[in-house]
Amino acid sequence: MTSMELPPQKQRSFEPTAEAQSGANISGMAAYRELASQAERDYEGFWAGLAREALEWRKPFGKVLDESNAPFYKWFEDGELNASYNCLDRHVAAGHGDRVAIVFEADDGTVTRVTYAQMLSRVSRLANALKRRGIQRGDRVVIYMPMSIEGIAAMQACARIGATHSVVFGGFSAKSLHERIVDVGAVAVITADEQVRGGKTLPLKQIADDALAMGGCDAVKTTIVYRRTGGYVAWRESRDCWLHEIVENEPDVCEPEWVGAEHPLFILYTSGSTGKPKGVQHSTAGYLLWAAQTMKWTFDWKREDVFWCTADIGWITGHTYIAYGPLALGATQVVFEGVPTYPNAGRFWKMIGDHRVSLFYTAPTAIRSLIKAAEADANVHPARHDLSSLRIIGTVGEPINPEAWMWYHRHVGGERCPVVDTWWQTETGGHMIAPMPGATPTVPGSCTLPLPGIMAAVVDETGQDVPDGQGGILVVKRPWPSMIRTVWGDPERFVKSYYPQELGGALYLAGDGAVRDKDTAYFTITGRIDDVLNVSGHRLGTMEIESALVAHELVAEAAVVGRPDETTGEAVVAFVVLKRARPQGEEAEQLAKALRDWVGKEIGPIAKPKEIRFGDNLPKTRSGKIMRRLLRSLAKGEAITQDTSTLENPDILNQLGQAR
Ligand code: WTA
Repeated sequence: MTSMELPPQKQRSFEPTAEAQSGANISGMAAYRELASQAERDYEGFWAGLAREALEWRKPFGKVLDESNAPFYKWFEDGELNASYNCLDRHVAAGHGDRVAIVFEADDGTVTRVTYAQMLSRVSRLANALKRRGIQRGDRVVIYMPMSIEGIAAMQACARIGATHSVVFGGFSAKSLHERIVDVGAVAVITADEQVRGGKTLPLKQIADDALAMGGCDAVKTTIVYRRTGGYVAWRESRDCWLHEIVENEPDVCEPEWVGAEHPLFILYTSGSTGKPKGVQHSTAGYLLWAAQTMKWTFDWKREDVFWCTADIGWITGHTYIAYGPLALGATQVVFEGVPTYPNAGRFWKMIGDHRVSLFYTAPTAIRSLIKAAEADANVHPARHDLSSLRIIGTVGEPINPEAWMWYHRHVGGERCPVVDTWWQTETGGHMIAPMPGATPTVPGSCTLPLPGIMAAVVDETGQDVPDGQGGILVVKRPWPSMIRTVWGDPERFVKSYYPQELGGALYLAGDGAVRDKDTAYFTITGRIDDVLNVSGHRLGTMEIESALVAHELVAEAAVVGRPDETTGEAVVAFVVLKRARPQGEEAEQLAKALRDWVGKEIGPIAKPKEIRFGDNLPKTRSGKIMRRLLRSLAKGEAITQDTSTLENPDILNQLGQAR
């Protein structure tokens, strides 16, 4: 942990415009402060009030928070509800069945709209089809699908019958998919023939077949295939069925399965400090409450809004701000199949204009790459498009550099839309630290203040508060409803990872460093403090990539570190020792390419190292420990200024310091 001082943030702050403030759900800082102090005065009462208002309960809860088995906290435990009912039925029942739920734009620009009534009918038919195949409450279903109405319907159908879904991002390899199917103990897999992005197809069904053939997947009795392209797929009669065929004769009414508030709605795998991804388990009520509430607070959502979150449903952002949050409110949202750069880098801006998007939510990495593109080609500049419908623009997933923030503010937000930089994680379920656009003055590069009810703080290695202005470890001091409940199948890992004894055992450890400003108390996230990298907003464990590399027959040892990168935030750099002599020149080029492809196959293309350097050895202490901080300096191209006297083999630094 490095302690760092940042300049005060007062100079460059943007007050919400009068327009953003007037009529906002939370208008003005006094309103924010009032909510925050309500939470401080009566924590349980605060959350209970929100939960009664935001959700429709089949059976009301009596008890709000149960801390008796901390850190396995329980919220609203004796209450009963159904997430899909809350996302669909209640809007239809309230007379909003004709409202458009999803405006889907395919990769090739084809637009499909579904209303709430149509969505309810689709979800109910699929839910009935799942039940007919023996899938029941408590079963786990893996969803490996492209961005699609069907993907969202699949998640909702699972929720409807009380099955726990685990969505695996379509960019993950067969091996990663296999690992997740086995770990979660899936009984069914829902996939598609192919995925289409940027004019290219990816054979999802083929990859799922490969995963299921790897062994240990006997529990999977059914695979359901959504026909997206009509491309060739291999077929196993006893197991495979077409989605469109199995829903054909199903009734479009399906009584929701009423579940307890703590019933696991989903498990989503994410990278941690060890080689094995963690299955982050979320609850039904607490999670859905916060998905809905943060839509109202961070995005100031109102009925007239058209919301667009560009994330993929394979990540938490796509869960909370596509599959659940917008639907829980009865919002109209845009869902996009493709990529921001196809057919050109003006795609996002064109779509905002075409669909009159008012709330836009994307990742810094996309913004940075679109800035580059716009600077190179005026035709794809946001100025070429009508962005007048925009009201609020948001970012998520990684720190946004102030320059990118300013460009977003100026060229996309027209200097009128509040920029909401939202800090949160797979584990937190929804936004934690973020501006309220009608209240909080924003500062480029800062996610500003914790949302009401979120007790975020910065502490040192022993769990003591550090003074404002000094860097430290980001923690959350009290449990909140949408927090992770456990690591699937590994409760011990949950406790160790998130409530470590070193910090006293009662603080939630986020894994990020942060500094709180002396004057404003605003938070700035300084990046991960563990062995997790953030490449284009994707979380990757260095150990996962190292394990993949050493699984290659030629590799003896590997160490992976991150290096700052202008476009992707961080880039993966791998230091590799082969079982044979260190390759050079042409051979090194070829081997580096082979190893990159290997990692792509082992984990997925997002994990491919940007650079691979070969050495005769790695820098190690006399006890054999790899000195990663030295490797980080080498990867950045910095001169080594650290003390290297404990190194067994200091000469190796010269060799590894030379980029190929
Ligand atoms: C990082 C994504 C700075 C952080 C929702 C966190 C951020 C990790 C921000 C979680 C932000 C997310 N500013 N850093 N606004 N948002 N991060 O689980 O390191 O994919 O721990 O969840 O992304 O990534 P995850």
